[in-house]
Amino acid sequence: MPTPANHPVPGLVGPFKLSVCFVCLGNICRSPTAEGVLTKLVADAGLRGRIRVDSVGTGAWHKGERADKRARTEAQRRGYDLQSVARQITSADFTTHDLLIGMDHANLRELEALAAKTTSTAKFSLLRSYDPLAPADSEVPDPYYGGLEEFARMFDMVEAACRGLLARLRSEHGL
Ligand code: 4NP
Repeated sequence: MPTPANHPVPGLVGPFKLSVCFVCLGNICRSPTAEGVLTKLVADAGLRGRIRVDSVGTGAWHKGERADKRARTEAQRRGYDLQSVARQITSADFTTHDLLIGMDHANLRELEALAAKTTSTAKFSLLRSYDPLAPADSEVPDPYYGGLEEFARMFDMVEAACRGLLARLRSEHGL
């Protein structure tokens, strides 16, 4: 981790110990879903004040928009509330967050390219790397041009990976 476990996260106000930000292309489908899922898992585990959860897009096309209607419909069916408003990543994201978690390899390549132009203290990873049952290098495919079925499959992948992510954060940081 870029900051020792009990060290305040730079740039963060409040008692948050860890800051996690999910990254996709548009910030209207996959990363808002991951934000909504992990936010609920964190709350259910009584860790709301300890882990901050955010999401961002590498592109700007959907800036200011709520999560895609199909994602919000599936979220509601599964008991999640997608609250995010789309925004594009900025240099501040590379220092306010401990973990920047991409959905696919293109997201990771973009993060690495942007990080080279900024002072980054964040660690990068792929979301499905936290799912113990997912093959190495698995991605969360973009469901944007698909139907509700693709969105349901996307939720299945995100839920499994977020459960693994929370377990990892708890064990690595004594939460
Ligand atoms: P996301 O999905 O990256 O999961 O938010 C996308 C949404 C919109 C577009 C691409 C991906 N788009 O090209 O507009």
